[in-house]
Amino acid sequence: MRVSAVLLLGALWSILLVAAENKKPVSQVDADYLAPAAPTTHIHRQKCSDLGQVEALKGVWVKHPDHGYRGMSDMKECPSFINDFDCLADYVDPKYRQLGQREFRKVYEPHACELHAFNASHFSQCTKGQRIIIIGDSTMRQVFQSLACLLHKEVKDGFFMDWRDANASHTSIPFEREYMLSDEPTTPILKQNIGMFTLSSGAEVHIQSFGIFNLTLWDDVMAQFQPLTSRDIIYAEFGAWYPRFNNWNMHKPWDRYKADLLELFDKRLRNTEAMVLWRAYGPTHFGGSTGTFTAIESVLEDLPTSQVCEPAAYGEYYYDTEVMKYLQNCKEDCSHIHMLPVYHLSLGAHDSHHGSFGRGVDEGTIDCRHYCANVIDTWNQVLYNKLCFNSDDKT
Ligand SMILES: *[C@@H]1O[C@H](CO)[C@@H](O)[C@H](O)[C@H]1NC(C)=O
Ligand SMILES: *[C@@H]1O[C@H](CO)[C@@H](O)[C@H](O)[C@H]1NC(C)=O
Ligand SMILES: *[C@@H]1O[C@H](CO)[C@@H](O)[C@H](O)[C@H]1NC(C)=O
Repeated sequence: MRVSAVLLLGALWSILLVAAENKKPVSQVDADYLAPAAPTTHIHRQKCSDLGQVEALKGVWVKHPDHGYRGMSDMKECPSFINDFDCLADYVDPKYRQLGQREFRKVYEPHACELHAFNASHFSQCTKGQRIIIIGDSTMRQVFQSLACLLHKEVKDGFFMDWRDANASHTSIPFEREYMLSDEPTTPILKQNIGMFTLSSGAEVHIQSFGIFNLTLWDDVMAQFQPLTSRDIIYAEFGAWYPRFNNWNMHKPWDRYKADLLELFDKRLRNTEAMVLWRAYGPTHFGGSTGTFTAIESVLEDLPTSQVCEPAAYGEYYYDTEVMKYLQNCKEDCSHIHMLPVYHLSLGAHDSHHGSFGRGVDEGTIDCRHYCANVIDTWNQVLYNKLCFNSDDKT
């Protein structure tokens, strides 16, 4: 009980700190990003093309006209090396069936333009001879898994595994080596997954996932792909392991996020030959308007465990505006760095988390960080629209 009281105090203090910070005037970048976009008045929207460097892609989820529509991919048709929690699988408690039908019937409709439907053979052709190097936390692992499923008819071969099971045939990284947190030199970073697949066009998709950034680890990963050219795409994100505040070390993860981001952008991304896609933040839907993880979800044992992922009005927009402000200052030196706009579509999908489908609830933790496949597939639909519909392409 005493421990819980201390944690509760910690949580309250964190809320106070955030409230105090909110007294600062909101910058224009923040205000614009947060503002609801006026829905388009055109009945026939243009198909999306030339999505800009920091296009926000605000919009709404609408019901697909077909009652039986259940999203873009079928987990049963994924390559054999893909295996992740599936919100529609038979092992999910039948009480979530209606929720699944409702959530997987939705499609995302941006206000600005209409997304092209995902087309695997066109994706394969338009990335011909390119390498998509996916780096980041477990939400990027989901991106890799979803892409493998959406592209399964084009996938020639591939593998995917826990990093701890990898050997020299999978990676030249000295996998027994530990990489440390920048501000906690004795805490090693969890290396998560490693994998790749090739497409019939010769395109390659790689995943190397680790939750927290370390420059030496980044360099060891990149050493495998040298030389990088303008045909390569570094598709990166870090965020899920950096809560805005938490009950045991307050602001530390957020300060770490800003420091790590600055190091990565200043020392590496800004100077790379490759194209960089920085994936916008996938807002968590833990407890209330900011969405941030608090003690309530798992640590306060005396309180009942939350059973749902909450809508979050402001959902941690500052992860993205931090990057946008950097790009604004960097100007043309960063013209090869674009954001992949998935924040607004994700914010509107608080019921499409593993946690809403019961995963983790029994253990007293609720998983409101990982989205179901319907949302991740839509991230990849946006990726397809971003990569394959540019008017300056020769093809
Ligand atoms: C998908 O792309 C291929 C190759 O570009 C094209 O031939 C086909 O018509 C497209 N399919 C649809 C449904 O648009
Ligand atoms: C690496 O692991 C694979 C299984 O994933 C195994 O088939 C292979 O023999 C191993 N190679 C070496 C060099 O240990
Ligand atoms: C990353 O990890 C290495 C150990 O492999 C450590 O020497 C280094 O200090 C870490 N880098 C940062 C920026 O913390």
